[in-house]
Amino acid sequence: MAEIIDGTAVAAAVRAEVAQDAAAFQREHGRRPALRVVLVGEHAASQSYVRAKARAAGEAGIDAETLARPADLSERDLLALIARLNADDGVDGILVQLPLPDHVDEGAVIRAVDPAKDVDGFHPENVGRLVLGEPTLEPCTPAGIVELLRRTGVETSGAHAVVLGRSNIVGKPLASLLLRRGLDATVTVCHSRTRDLPALARQADVLVAAIGRAGFVTADMVKPGAAVVDVGINRVDDASRERGYRLVGDVDFDAVADVAGAITPVPGGVGPMTIAMLLANTVEAARRRAA
Ligand code: GUN
Repeated sequence: MAEIIDGTAVAAAVRAEVAQDAAAFQREHGRRPALRVVLVGEHAASQSYVRAKARAAGEAGIDAETLARPADLSERDLLALIARLNADDGVDGILVQLPLPDHVDEGAVIRAVDPAKDVDGFHPENVGRLVLGEPTLEPCTPAGIVELLRRTGVETSGAHAVVLGRSNIVGKPLASLLLRRGLDATVTVCHSRTRDLPALARQADVLVAAIGRAGFVTADMVKPGAAVVDVGINRVDDASRERGYRLVGDVDFDAVADVAGAITPVPGGVGPMTIAMLLANTVEAARRRAA
């Protein structure tokens, strides 16, 4: 039976450290690090993520405010809002929750955020730094996965890490992070067109699933003893639950836990780490801007 990696506990440790750093920042600069979260429209999952982010930020001593706008907000007005937050010296971090409504060019919005305030690490300038191995604000989910592996003692140096999924939010930046000096993994990125994906997955010492399909990773795709990281957050209908659904990952947890050496659960694995790293990035952005 695999070790179950407790993301909630590790995230709590990170958040306690961030709270100390936020308090130190306040003592030195007479104000709290400030985060502004922009939410456009009423995407149900986004609303719940944004609430969790704002609450966690407040608990860490970060001045957090959510700017909720209607789904029909024009791209022009959204860019104007971002320009106002860029120009506000009291704002350290800006997060525009994705996905955005179809009429908005997501790339244009990401490029509009001041890279120094880009706590998502999505701006091309920050993506470039990440790929070059330079210090930068790292995308929260990949950074959270790496921190989770580090703090649970999973060795990445020389290991074969197989990443399932090539998204700009998780797969691609995670591959760049794992390749960096210090982490030193050998990285394979798989996607929907990959030939014989199960055979590649079976080679993984560290297997990361970030594809968004419930139960995609089955026990036969996992090498005995591998560390399995489940990034998926999928809603499946469940009439026995009050909300009518439950959350499951991309990994068939029960079966894979019999084979893997370590595994992250859903919920309570990567999700809490994503939020913790957002808080860490906000304090880091505040420090760099104040320096
Ligand atoms: N939507 C899903 N994940 C994320 C994230 O990490 N940041 C933002 N801004 N939107 C998301």
